[in-house]
Amino acid sequence: MMIGIPRERKLLEGRIALTPKAVAELVANHHVVLIETNAGLKSGYYNSDYLAVGGQIVQNLTDVYRAELVVKVKEPVIEEINLLRKNQILFCYLHLAANPDVLKALLRQHVTALAFETLTVNGHLPLLAPMSAIAGQLAVHLSAQYLQQINGGAGVLLGGVMGTAKGRVVVLGAGVAGNHAALMASALGAEVYVLDKSQEALNHLKRQNSSIFTALFSEEALAALLPQTDVVIGAVLIKGANAPRLLTKNLQALLAKGRIIVDIAIDQGGCVEDIQATDWQQPTYWRNDIGYIAVTNLPGAVPRTSAQALSEVILPYVQNIARGELSHDAILQSAIAVKDGKIVHPALI
Ligand SMILES: NC(=O)c1ccc[n+]([C@@H]2O[C@H](COP(=O)([O-])OP(=O)(O)OC[C@H]3O[C@@H](n4cnc5c(N)ncnc54)[C@H](O)[C@@H]3O)[C@@H](O)[C@H]2O)c1
Repeated sequence: MMIGIPRERKLLEGRIALTPKAVAELVANHHVVLIETNAGLKSGYYNSDYLAVGGQIVQNLTDVYRAELVVKVKEPVIEEINLLRKNQILFCYLHLAANPDVLKALLRQHVTALAFETLTVNGHLPLLAPMSAIAGQLAVHLSAQYLQQINGGAGVLLGGVMGTAKGRVVVLGAGVAGNHAALMASALGAEVYVLDKSQEALNHLKRQNSSIFTALFSEEALAALLPQTDVVIGAVLIKGANAPRLLTKNLQALLAKGRIIVDIAIDQGGCVEDIQATDWQQPTYWRNDIGYIAVTNLPGAVPRTSAQALSEVILPYVQNIARGELSHDAILQSAIAVKDGKIVHPALI
């Protein structure tokens, strides 16, 4: 099969979907892999690295989209959507519940689009997990940075020092992103609370670090924590659907001045009421003295790590699609969002 890998168009996005190591394996299986020129540069991979393993460098997007299968990182931009054609397969993060315009465009183009974030194996989302892990860690890095007075924050050091209180971090969601955020915040010395609707998820986290406080989610429990909280990190997910709006405007108003909200779930519309998506050029905006961070492509800032992690997990599925297994592979089918102009994934209907 002919496989195309475009350069990502999203602002300051540095990832490439497949590393040279992965391309080498596809070429060994007799596939033709077209890579848009310089697509790997921000992840530290040069055209020469791809040429060395048998990939072909092409000069523009039109040439990449000649491929039968396009593998990329983020949802396609309009320039890419216009190049998609009937029966072509697109495999990437799509987050269509939060991107109705992209959904409509994919239906119009009659492509088969598979979303990394809904591919399900035994109830888990293996193609979302590594990026959630990275996003969880980065959420803590960012909040620590924007808590600094020089960046508009309350001037709180998350870990505190002798004679001072520790900073308090509240994490909503004890899944992959929530786990990584909680463990990172705890490692920095913060006092960490995690709320989730699943006792099993909370128990799993508690087994890893017993100093983290956990509780079943309720608005009352959250309201009681917020007046003394320095950072809230939203990391809940309902697979394929819009995120539940857990942090209402009333709850946000309970935070003191200069505190930070990071909504990792912004790619699924956000779990913070009225939050606006941001980007890496300007990750934060301030409203009523609260800093809001809602970058939809957090892992794009650490593309070397992210591209390696992503490429590793998607490669087996790219191989299966390229072998023509899409029509009879139940795991691949769990990722199909749209096909032949129709919505397939139940969360989008
Ligand atoms: N912004 C980014 O760059 C970026 C990157 C990666 C992942 N994400 C997003 O991070 C979010 C979390 O992903 P994940 O992989 O950690 O998901 P996950 O499925 O591992 O965990 C989600 C958790 O949310 C909990 N939850 C769901 N609804 C809830 C509710 N109403 N109340 C309390 N808890 C609830 C679930 O029980 C689960 O434990 C997703 O929206 C994902 O798309 C964003």
